[in-house]
Amino acid sequence: MNEPQVLVVADPAAGSAVAADRIALVLADAVAARGRAHWATTGGSTPVGIYRRLAAPPLVDEIPWTAVEVWWGDDRYVPRDHPLSNVKSLDDILLRIGEGEQGTAGGGWPGVPLPVGNVHPFPTGEAIGGARGAAWCAATLADELRTAGLEAVNGWPVFDLMLIGVGADGHLLSVFPGSDAFDSPDLALAVPAPTHIEPHVERVTLNPALIGVAREVIVVAYGADKAEVLAEVLGPTRDPRRWPAQLALRPGATWVLDTEAATVGVGR
Ligand code: 6PG
Repeated sequence: MNEPQVLVVADPAAGSAVAADRIALVLADAVAARGRAHWATTGGSTPVGIYRRLAAPPLVDEIPWTAVEVWWGDDRYVPRDHPLSNVKSLDDILLRIGEGEQGTAGGGWPGVPLPVGNVHPFPTGEAIGGARGAAWCAATLADELRTAGLEAVNGWPVFDLMLIGVGADGHLLSVFPGSDAFDSPDLALAVPAPTHIEPHVERVTLNPALIGVAREVIVVAYGADKAEVLAEVLGPTRDPRRWPAQLALRPGATWVLDTEAATVGVGR
C-alpha cells in the first residue's frame, strides 16, 4: 500500500466501526509480531464512538489488552479527570474510572483488561499539582517514551499505531498551522493556548515527526465543520505548515471521513 487510503462512510457511527475494526487488527498484529503494541491515541470527540466499539464484543475479546501500551498524541494542560482532558474518555469508556459512563448502557461492565500501568498519559496532574509547568510535563513524558523500549527510526520512537483527529483549522495533535513544533528536535513539547480555536487552554503534544515513522496511521474526521479544511488538506497543494494534517497523508495511512466531512457544502 503506497498511497493513503481515504474511506468515506455514511456517518460517525459507521466511521467508528471501521476505525475500531482496523485498530483491533493493528494491535493484534503488532502483539503477534513484536510482543507489545504501542498505540498513540487522540483526543477531542472522535475517539468516543471508537472506544465504545473497542470495549464491546466482538472486538473487546480480539484485542490482547495486557500487551497494549497506550500513549496520547497530545493533551490539554488540565488534570486527567477534567472534562477537557484527552485522557478522560479512555478512562471513562475503556477503564471505567470515574463517573462518566456509570449508569449508561453496559453499566456494571468492569472495563477492558487494559492494565492501568500500560496507560501513559502526559503527567498533567502531577505537573499542575507541583506547579512545574507544561514544559516539564512534556519533557517528563518524552523521557518515559524514550525509555519504553520502542524501536526508533532517525531517533524517533516508532508507534505501532497513531490514531489522529483533524481540527477545523487543519491541525493534528496540538500542532497548529505555523507551529514551532515543525522545527523542534524535542520528542514532546508544550504549546501555548491557541487563540483561534477552542478550547483556549495550554497544550502538550508529541512532535509531529512521529507521524512519519509510525507503522500505521489512522485519521478520523467527521462533520460539516471539517469539510472546507479537508478539501484543502486533500487538495493538490502540499503545505503541511499551513495544514498540519497533511503530515498524515502518507503511504499506508487510512483516512476515515463521514460524508459530511468529505463533501464541501453538505450539512450547511
Ligand atoms: C485536541 C486534539 C485534536 C483533535 C482535533 C479533532 O486535543 O484537541 O487531540 O488534535 O483530535 O481537534 O477534534 P474532534 O475529534 O473533537 O473533532
